[in-house]
Amino acid sequence: MYELAERLVREGRLSAPEYLALLTRCDDSTLAFLRNEAVRTAQERFGCAIFVRGLIEIGSICRNDCLYCGLRRSNRRAERYRLTSQQILSACEAGYEAGFRTFVLQGGEDPWWNDERLVPLIEEIHRRWPEAALTLSLGEREEASYRRLFEAGAARYLLRHEAADCALYEKLHPAEMSHAGRLNCIESLKRIGYQTGMGMMVGAPGQSPEALVEDILLMERIVPEMIGIGPFLPHHDTPYAGEPAGDLRLTLLLLAILRLRFPRALIPATTALATLHPRGRIEGILSGANVVMPNLSPEQVRRKYAIYDGKASTGAEAAEGLRLLARELETIGYRINFSRGDYQ
Ligand code: 5AD
Repeated sequence: MYELAERLVREGRLSAPEYLALLTRCDDSTLAFLRNEAVRTAQERFGCAIFVRGLIEIGSICRNDCLYCGLRRSNRRAERYRLTSQQILSACEAGYEAGFRTFVLQGGEDPWWNDERLVPLIEEIHRRWPEAALTLSLGEREEASYRRLFEAGAARYLLRHEAADCALYEKLHPAEMSHAGRLNCIESLKRIGYQTGMGMMVGAPGQSPEALVEDILLMERIVPEMIGIGPFLPHHDTPYAGEPAGDLRLTLLLLAILRLRFPRALIPATTALATLHPRGRIEGILSGANVVMPNLSPEQVRRKYAIYDGKASTGAEAAEGLRLLARELETIGYRINFSRGDYQ
């Protein structure tokens, strides 16, 4: 295993069977080596700096029915909310004051947020905070819509591919969603010129190691500027309520592999990772992650954005907890970087 790991470090890539071997048979000392090398790779480019993005969860209403997600439309018990444009602007303002220079508007697929409503909001954010980067994470839309939002001032878009393996994608999603449709969206985003984020859950029900290799290969083909991965975590009101959570060790191994394969990528230590384990965020950074996304949503709605059980939204996960986050990062010799942190 060690030889494979060394080759990944030296050559920056492996073949599909080699990735599979590494994912399934990585011993502890090889894992430690890969994580060290991933950290070294991140530090060569980014130093000991962690970019922060202010996450605003703009609504929990969703037309989709993804089997793993607590916000799926079949979940009648989910509490639904929709922030007003005014509330979103206030959250940006508070975030800007706190030092954030990237805002991420994330939400369920809510048709209420059509272009006629989103474009003026995006233009206003762009006008009021021109030096801040605006990221959208609002699911699948028409290419023409993505284009209008880009022209209005959004520079980045997060749309996890969820599963490169077709059969797994179909297992995790309702019949009306398609693997091809998802890829089309991602390709549209790239074509338009968005810095584009992809990613998947680790340990989703039915996910084989081979499926994870497919994920790596798909990302090799598309070359996302941002890569978001985190463990699957069950939500009690979904069909996957009784499924086990994704594995910490495997998530950290994948983070390290992805950092080595995509040295320039912006890779967050995700909330899911921080939720899975008290040291998740720190261990993620110690596997090559270089972004954290504290929550800027109004306090009273945070618990309603329940995509999985136990979702962390306080302490270092919260924008008010920046000091706590800074202290946590200090313990491993890192500091917050408030710049836009564009892909270079
Ligand atoms: N566990 C972990 N991650 C989840 N996501 C959605 N539901 C869950 C869950 N139960 C991830 C998906 C989605 C992103 C918003 O959160 O990958 O793209």
